[in-house]
Amino acid sequence: MHVFTTAAELRAYAEARRSAGRRLGLVPTMGALHNGHLQLVQAAAAQCDEVITSVFVNPTQFNNPDDLRLYPRVPEQDAAMLAPAGCTALFLPSVAEVYPQPSVLRFDFGPLEQVMEGAHRPGHFNGVATVVSKLFHLARPHVAYFGQKDFQQVAVVRQLVADLSFDLELVVYPTVREADGLAMSSRNGRLSPAARAVAPLIYQVLTEAAAQVRQGVPPAQMQALALAALAEEPQITPEYFELIDAHTLQPVQQYSSGQPLALCVAAHLGGVRLIDNVLV
Ligand code: PAF
Repeated sequence: MHVFTTAAELRAYAEARRSAGRRLGLVPTMGALHNGHLQLVQAAAAQCDEVITSVFVNPTQFNNPDDLRLYPRVPEQDAAMLAPAGCTALFLPSVAEVYPQPSVLRFDFGPLEQVMEGAHRPGHFNGVATVVSKLFHLARPHVAYFGQKDFQQVAVVRQLVADLSFDLELVVYPTVREADGLAMSSRNGRLSPAARAVAPLIYQVLTEAAAQVRQGVPPAQMQALALAALAEEPQITPEYFELIDAHTLQPVQQYSSGQPLALCVAAHLGGVRLIDNVLV
């Protein structure tokens, strides 16, 4: 597995492999890899000739300085996990390498980012779109792989690809879960044992709410029940719990037939912010 720390090295590698007719897959990550990331890498390895994985904790997408400071950074451990999963090139740049000058470009995704993560984390999707655009330009992938756990991120990246005519295919993989249902996340490692013990409640509440949606329980009632169920656990502070249209991401007030629906949640547990979602 190649390890590149400079943009020039990655660009040269990607150009050479593309010119040689190789199919390139890109798995963008912020490291502290878990099985969810590895499944993306394995999928890329099955479908592409070269798999580029980026490990970069992108400062511009953090609106909370503590979250950025405490985000786990274990590059040696990540590198050791990537090669056996089929990664052929690891991009491990510094902040100065990715941002040689402060980025002044601003993305506006309109209604797509005015809800959920975009509403609660101002500037988050501007940072995501900035770094993802840079990675797409440097790695020139034919296919880019993302996890469904970041549901809104997928919608924003899809819009980015369409609006900027990136010549690539997006592949989205279902959320990988622990045996007790907790969605795998690099932030899970920061949960105290007590917080980890109650964290599966988030997915339980999501699945109960999904069942209520299928039974036709009115959205406002379903949402109130879900928020109350989460708030019953004193360690959990829910931030939002939304039933949304899975395409527009706008909150759903009443059901209409054939509308694709998703339930999305964000909650704080002992200083750690977790998100999760299910398609209904
Ligand atoms: O999903 C993530 O880990 C990040 O948002 C991404 C896509 C790697 C951009 O920094």
